[in-house]
Amino acid sequence: MNQTEQLAAVKAYTISKLGQDSTGHGMDHINRVVRMSKRLANGENVDPFLPIVAAYLHDTIDEKLVKNINAAKEELIAYLNKNEFSPDQVQQIMDVIDNISFAHTLDGEQINLSIVGQIVRDADWLDAIGAIGITRAIYYGGGHHEKIYDPAIKPRYNMSREEYRNLANETIINHFDEKLLHLKDMMNTATAKKIAAHRQQVMLDYLAEFHAEWNAEK
Ligand code: ADP
Ligand code: NI
Repeated sequence: MNQTEQLAAVKAYTISKLGQDSTGHGMDHINRVVRMSKRLANGENVDPFLPIVAAYLHDTIDEKLVKNINAAKEELIAYLNKNEFSPDQVQQIMDVIDNISFAHTLDGEQINLSIVGQIVRDADWLDAIGAIGITRAIYYGGGHHEKIYDPAIKPRYNMSREEYRNLANETIINHFDEKLLHLKDMMNTATAKKIAAHRQQVMLDYLAEFHAEWNAEK
């Protein structure tokens, strides 16, 4: 199997798992993360093949999206083996998608990501900020019946992983303070840092406008 065929197989696998997703992890998110991973890999002079593969697969074993993580992992590993990824490649891919979630950065867990992992995590997090990030937060918040905003509900910081997963009374605007505004400083690659700085300003401008309108100042 050549790399083009392997990529097609990986893409088909992801579509079979996430094609029907409506939680903000559908193929539109995946395709943006793939495009960004390619761009970041080029910026780092890294062969884009594994970053692209890991980008396609990064949400297929997510704890929020699958019932049994171990079964999902085993199914994926068997699929990669069947599609002639080498044992080293399978290990690298699984290492990346095991370790890139935001939840892993809570509870002070230290994770040493490979360069492929750094690229895919940057690409995933870039998709949570800027204009796209604003849109995804509103989409997610609406789907979860969150309030748009409530000045009486203060943003919470330094949450544990459990607390983050079980947040009650979340508002869409608080999600920026609790997560989205912090992602910029957690980027790894030089290209992602630059893109994140721009997207941060887009969010800050949006939030300033939001609060001004909320208070009838504009
Ligand atoms: P990830 O893909 O990093 O695992 P999540 O599944 O937590 O992210 O979130 C998917 C999208 O929804 C992201 O853009 C995220 O910022 C947004 N989101 C997550 N939780 C909330 C929330 N409580 N309110 C608003 N948006 C959220
Ligand atoms: Ni993702």
